[in-house]
Amino acid sequence: MSRLEGKVAVITGASSGLGRVGAERFAAEGAKVVIADVADGEEAVDAITAAGGDASYVSCDVTDEESVKSAIDFAVEVYGGLHVLYNNAGVMLSEDDNPVTTSIDTYQKTMDINVLGTMLGCKYAIPAMQATREKDGSVGSIVNVASFVAHMGAATPQVAYTASKGAVLAMTREIAVIYARQGIRCNALCPGPIMTPMLAKFLSDDAKRNRRLVHIPMGRFGDPSEIANGALFLASDESSWMTGQSLIIDGGITAAYVTPE
Ligand SMILES: NC(=O)c1ccc[n+]([C@@H]2O[C@H](COP(=O)([O-])OP(=O)(O)OC[C@H]3O[C@@H](n4cnc5c(N)ncnc54)[C@H](O)[C@@H]3O)[C@@H](O)[C@H]2O)c1
Repeated sequence: MSRLEGKVAVITGASSGLGRVGAERFAAEGAKVVIADVADGEEAVDAITAAGGDASYVSCDVTDEESVKSAIDFAVEVYGGLHVLYNNAGVMLSEDDNPVTTSIDTYQKTMDINVLGTMLGCKYAIPAMQATREKDGSVGSIVNVASFVAHMGAATPQVAYTASKGAVLAMTREIAVIYARQGIRCNALCPGPIMTPMLAKFLSDDAKRNRRLVHIPMGRFGDPSEIANGALFLASDESSWMTGQSLIIDGGITAAYVTPE
């Protein structure tokens, strides 16, 4: 039996990057996947369909309450319920720097997408999951994407991004405790650096990439499939006694004080 058989999953920001790979993996494991993204997701849908999976795209801006509500409604209308919300959409803006130089505009935009977006997903997914539970007895699972920077400082610097991921982690714990006895689990996924379009923008040459690699004990960037594996575990019933936790997948970064030669 596939690991997400019979589940309906909404994945935000799944037209590209980690969300896209997660969508493909979830569909391969039997989930019906709704790709909710501001960017067009039809190509991702086609790839999933060609591989024998079931997916749909809905245009969604996670900072817009009506848009998020419509995306959740779409999932319920098309697939008959909701079991998983993978709150993956997020940005790391190039103007994000230290607290002295970072503009309020950059700070606010980061917070709106990364934090408000996560909250709005939960706001509309939770009632939909509860209604689904009434029908089929399922436990809903919310997977919020934070980052290893929610656990430690980095001299990168990206003050707004780091603050936003700390907020996602704290919100995850709060939601987990509120709904622990009401059939909804909520966990955070904390990736280390993965070479998606988001990171490729910042680590654009060998010198920059090598500077970052020095801090990764395993000596390499992660592969998107390694994050999808973690998301799959948290989304599925395999993590049934796990809520309010942070699953860090980072090649050992947060374990290290000094990295090996
Ligand atoms: N790549 C990494 O190294 C890394 C590390 C830690 C955490 N993360 C987190 O993982 C998540 C995915 O990152 P990624 O590297 O795949 O990024 P990405 O930039 O490759 O993809 C992000 C996706 O989110 C979508 N998106 C952006 N704003 C949106 C909005 N307002 N509404 C809906 N969708 C929106 C984009 O269109 C895009 O498809 C993010 O939350 C990011 O912070 C990434």
